[in-house]
Amino acid sequence: MSGEQGALAERVIAWQRRHGRHDLPWQGTRDPYRVWLSEIMLQQTQVATVLAYYPRFLQRFGDVAALASASEDEVLALWSGLGYYSRARLLHRCARQVMADFGGQFPTRAATLASLPGIGRSTAAAIAAFCFGERAAILDGNVKRVLARVFAITDDLGQAAPMRALWQRAEDLLPRGRLRSTMPAYTQGLMDLGATLCLPRRPACGRCPLAAICLAAASGEPERWPAKRPRPARRELALWLVHAVDAQGRVWLTRRPSRGIWAGLHCMPAFESRTLALGSLPSGARGRVHEHAPFTHVLTHRDLHLHVLTARLSGGELADEHGAWVAPERWSGFGLPAPVRRFLLSASPVRGGA
Ligand code: ADE
Ligand code: SF4
Repeated sequence: MSGEQGALAERVIAWQRRHGRHDLPWQGTRDPYRVWLSEIMLQQTQVATVLAYYPRFLQRFGDVAALASASEDEVLALWSGLGYYSRARLLHRCARQVMADFGGQFPTRAATLASLPGIGRSTAAAIAAFCFGERAAILDGNVKRVLARVFAITDDLGQAAPMRALWQRAEDLLPRGRLRSTMPAYTQGLMDLGATLCLPRRPACGRCPLAAICLAAASGEPERWPAKRPRPARRELALWLVHAVDAQGRVWLTRRPSRGIWAGLHCMPAFESRTLALGSLPSGARGRVHEHAPFTHVLTHRDLHLHVLTARLSGGELADEHGAWVAPERWSGFGLPAPVRRFLLSASPVRGGA
């Protein structure tokens, strides 16, 4: 490491103390439960969204024991709207494992934290750095971009060998002294730099504490890093949702399989074709189906085109479905995919309680 790059940690720490974020609700604590929860919520979700969910979640589940003893359905219901529901399931499993294997105390070492469900290497390092001052490196998407620019890394960071080298570099760059105070500031500083200055488009090099040592800034075209790799084409998927409504306005909901789209959530019965969807209805109802205008819901790797078929049924069970009639007042207690929740509320504006 050159002398100039040795100054990186000092620069990040000094900048974080003056210009970084200090008032986020998970910053005033070294309680690993609170820090862990925030890091999981922030993995794929913007700070602004997490700010709305985090206090509500903590109010219901004040510690890891409370979360561990909840049902998965209740956890999913509170998570509803944050998306990426596998995170919520892993969060719940992790809480149970902390109770069962660690006596209700989160482990304090990054390497041990990384053995728990849903905690990857970078998240483990963030928790250990924030709560215990461990000298452990984070390397999330934002930090990857910052380091790829500072060192003008042209390798494909989708490959294992360049990533191993980047992890090594991230570890070499860590502060060396007074870790209890430097590690939290350094870790938060790197996150804040990536989130507020070193943006994917038009990074604010003029205000960046690393500009003097950054090879990408020196090139005059910092956006050239990190090297782009060709993306796989987005896939398209159409689903037909059967919106069966009974005489009391209840809707038939079933649980999604534990793998695939909306895994484990509750949903209207979903089919890959109109024919299959109609075939799930009692024959007398098929002629009276109302088809809504389709709408598109964008997931990470696909565009979902959703077609909703409304069928008014007199009651009784639908064929072949392990579901239940659920009144609008009870929808908020179910983990429903966000577009399904929105559809149901718009289709049942008077009594929607979700
Ligand atoms: N993103 C991930 N972790 C974060 C944190 N601790 N503060 C702000 N944004 C984050
Ligand atoms: Fe990113 Fe510019 Fe800072 Fe380099 S100088 S780290 S490119 S914001």
